[in-house]
Formats: sequence, C-alpha cells, structure tokens
Amino acid sequence: PPKEPAEEEAAAEGQEGGPAEEAAEEPGSWEETFKTHTDSKPNGPTSVGLDFSLPGFEHVYGIPEHADNLRLRTTEGGDPYRLYNLDVFQYELYNPMALYGSVPLLLAHSARSTLGLFWLNAAETWVDISSNTAGKTLFGKLLDYMQGGGETPQTDVRWMSESGIIDVFLLLGPTPAAVAGQYAALTGTQALPPLFALGYHQSRWNYNNEEDVAAVERGFEEHALPCDVLWLDIEHADGKRYFTWDPSKFPQPRAMLERLAAKKRKMVSIVDPHIKVDSAYRVHSELRARGFYVKTKDGGDYEGWCWPGSAAYPDFTNPEMRAWWASMFAYDQYEGSTENLFTWNDMNEPSVFSGPEVTMHKDAVHHGGWEHRDLHNLYGFYVQMATAEGQIQRSGGRQRPFVLSRAFFAGSQRYGAVWTGDNAAEWEHLKISIPMCLSFGLAGLSFCGADVGGFFKNPEPELLVRWYQAGAFQPFFRAHAHLDTVRREPWLFGEENAALIRAALRQRYALLPFWYTAFYRCHRHGLPVMRPLWMEYPEDTTTFAMDDQYLIGEWRPP
Ligand code: NOJ
Repeated sequence: PPKEPAEEEAAAEGQEGGPAEEAAEEPGSWEETFKTHTDSKPNGPTSVGLDFSLPGFEHVYGIPEHADNLRLRTTEGGDPYRLYNLDVFQYELYNPMALYGSVPLLLAHSARSTLGLFWLNAAETWVDISSNTAGKTLFGKLLDYMQGGGETPQTDVRWMSESGIIDVFLLLGPTPAAVAGQYAALTGTQALPPLFALGYHQSRWNYNNEEDVAAVERGFEEHALPCDVLWLDIEHADGKRYFTWDPSKFPQPRAMLERLAAKKRKMVSIVDPHIKVDSAYRVHSELRARGFYVKTKDGGDYEGWCWPGSAAYPDFTNPEMRAWWASMFAYDQYEGSTENLFTWNDMNEPSVFSGPEVTMHKDAVHHGGWEHRDLHNLYGFYVQMATAEGQIQRSGGRQRPFVLSRAFFAGSQRYGAVWTGDNAAEWEHLKISIPMCLSFGLAGLSFCGADVGGFFKNPEPELLVRWYQAGAFQPFFRAHAHLDTVRREPWLFGEENAALIRAALRQRYALLPFWYTAFYRCHRHGLPVMRPLWMEYPEDTTTFAMDDQYLIGEWRPP
C-alpha cells in the first residue's frame, strides 16, 4: 500500500526512515530489470518467509499448479516450486515452474496423521522442500531402523513471498478428510455445478461460424454421441471485442442459441479480461470513463498487448468494477446472449503479451493503492467471481452459473471450473492430467479437467480414444484444440474409433447421477471428488506415492 504520510515526511527530512530514507538518497537504486522491462519498486525490495519443520512426515502434496507428480519432490539443488500465475507457452512436464493458477496450500501425510499449511499470500511465492530421508532407499531406511532407529523422518518446508504479511493457517487434521473440511471452512467448498456442466463439452479454437456450429451439432446427433455443450473461442467476437459477435460469422447468435436450446444444449462463449482499446467499443469507453482500469505507477490506464492488439485491464479487485462487470451479463447488455449461454474466462493470469514474463508489471496500481505485486495471484480469481455473479444476477438469482477459468487462487472453487491450460497431444500429457487434477482436488478445486486430445499438435487416433476414455472419468470433461490443429470431432477417425469414443461418452452419461451426487457431497463437506488412494487408505503406506490411479465417489464421513 502507499506509504504512510509520516514515513514520507521522515524520508524527505532525511531522518532515520529505513528503506524510505535510502530511496530518497538514491532514486532508482531498487529498480530491477527483466529483459526490457523495469520494475520501479517504489516501496523498495521486500519479502516475507517462514520455515516449517514437519517431524514424522515424508510425504507432502498440494501447492498447485505444477505439471508434476502428485507427491511433491525435494527442491534441494534446484528451483523451489513457484506460485505466480502465468500464461506459459508449451509448458514442460515434471517441473516446479509456475503455471496459470496458484493455491498456497500444502498437505503433509503419514500413516499416523495428515496436516495442512495454508500460506495466505497472493504475491509471487516460492516453496522450498527438503527432507532428511530423500534419496534413501527403502532398504537404507530399514537398515537405519534395524540399527537402532535411525533418524525420525522429517520434511522441512520454506515459504517465501515477495510482499504482504505472514498469515498462515495450520490445519491439524488429523485425518485427510478433517484437513479437507478445515480448509473448506476457510476458503469455501466447490460450487455445485449445473447438471449439464458435468456432461461432455465440445470445444475448439474455433468453431468458425453459425453453419459450422450447426454441422458439428448435427454430427453429434447423427453419430449418436451425447454432448451437452458447444464452445466458441475468441474468433467468435467482433475483432476480439468480448461481449460482441462477429457480424459476418455469427449474424444471428440468438437464433443459433435457440436452436441449441431446442435440443436442451448449451453454449459457452469466451470473455477474456483484456479489453480492446477502441473508443468506438462501448465496453472500453465505459470502463475508461468510470476509471475502472488498472493504472500504471504514474496514474494512467495500464495498457498492454494481447489478442485484440492494444488492450487495457479492468481492475477486478475493485468491488464497484466487479459489480459493473457482472451487470454486463444481463441479457440486454450482452446482446445476443440467452439463458443457455455460459462463460469461459481465459488469459486471466492476467496474460499481457508485451509484459514481463507475459504478465502485468508488478508496479501497476490497483484499487486502494495496492501494487499488482501484492495481489497478482488473485486477479484471475476475481475475474471468475465477477463473471459468476453476473450469471447469477441475469437469472434473478434462480440459476447456478457455469464459468471456466484458467487462472485461480485459494477459494476459486466457489465460482466454477478450472482446467490445466495449453497441454499437448502427447501420451505424457495424458498421463500427467491425473496427478495435476488430483493436486487441484486436494487444494479444493474439484471441478477440473485437461483438454481432451491435447491442445497443441494432432493426436494419433489411439491417443484421442484413450484420452476420451480417461477424460470420461475426470470431473470437467471437455475436448479442445488449437487453431492450427486439424479437425478432430469424434466421427472423423473411422467407425471403429467413433464407436470407442461413443462408449466412453455413454459411460460418462450412465454415471452422470453418480457424478452429480459426488459433487453435491463435495459441495457440502469439502472432500475432493477425485481423490488419491491415500485419502481413503491413510494407513496404507504403499498408496502414498501413487498418482496413476484414484477414486471417485463414496467416502467415509470425517
Ligand atoms: C489460451 C487458452 O489456454 C486456449 O484454450 C484458447 O484456445 C486460446 N487461449 C485462445 O483463446
């Protein structure tokens, strides 16, 4: 936050003023550059951190989002796990690098008990993990034990955040279910999805026009493939001006949506939080006139480069701005929208193509004078919150919203679904979708999935089929693909493959009441829908590192 007036005065008068005094003496001495970007750090360099020792624990989990195994590894000699919401191009697997979302919740589990550490800080955060048993084989540990006990296993966890305060919650369990309940008491449980959202979703970047949408829908009908939702990516809007429709490709959106509604189908359109700077675009001119954009450190509207070209970023941390954004989903504001149209919030890390690490400058300024650095990991959370609120309001509070978000933070489960972003059509990506979703679930985000088929590249038919078979058993079940990939609707790979995909889709639909009940229980009690085996068999040490199998459904009450 801005400096207290007394601190400013002290610095100006050259009294002992700590960091403020040094800043006054050497302007710019705290600046940091990243490639061509400068972080002016007007409040000087800061960080907070704390070490935790966990005697008796060898297994730790959580702190999504990372493309890694469920069980966290030790980070000695390498980079710590990083939590900093970023739009990462073609992310690497088995890597502690930051991805699109962050939940600073770590779980530790042993045959005796489970506990949680919730580090409530939305600034850039790093987590270092070390262990006194890492690298020792089972035989080595046994030998230690036989020779008089050896050391008590212990894991040490170091949390470091760039700014903010130390606000940490110790969740004492002692069972996995109790920790989940304690975390849910702090951040809320998964919003109960509308039933259709647990069905199958068909997406690609892009379904090109109204005829294309009609043909894809017909394909599902003719091939007897169940599908609840068709998705429209950024090309549907008029020049990436969200809340509008391209007049030549989608001249009659309402009629298109009504045709889908006649078959009880839904549609999702993308609404990203970067707003084209164009004075003829009402969304932009209103945001500017109301002073609702994030500001630069010098007080102007912060602008960056994104899909529409030059774009500004609504300040979703401002409750008035969020109320305005929510009002944009009213049927008379979002023209052409109907009650079977739902929303996808992408690029909400936020993604800024021209910014440091493809995101916003840390010295940009939000409502109340907070620097972007202080709340970066919360930006996407607030985008999804405001959008979900808009959908609730447009229905007069009668219907549950559906909003998919790419960025997230602790508590995002209250506003909808999340997914693992831009994966690739590779077997390893299919494999890692399981630990990634398990880790989301442990951190409260039960409504999660991965792009079925893989986003980048073209899947060989067997990979696509296997992905449908796996995806049918993951909570959010959506096929999606990059603009440059070849079309891959399920009937394009021959009758045999179509039949296998049909069987997977039908398995999903046969179990739909089961999924809905599982989500209801999760909504009430906070236990993940998709659970690692050790949650159900907490004393069975052989399950502690397993992340290629999992359980859905019945659970024992805490
Ligand atoms: C990035 C998203 O991750 C991807 O799913 C989407 O298709 C593109 N943005 C275009 O909107």
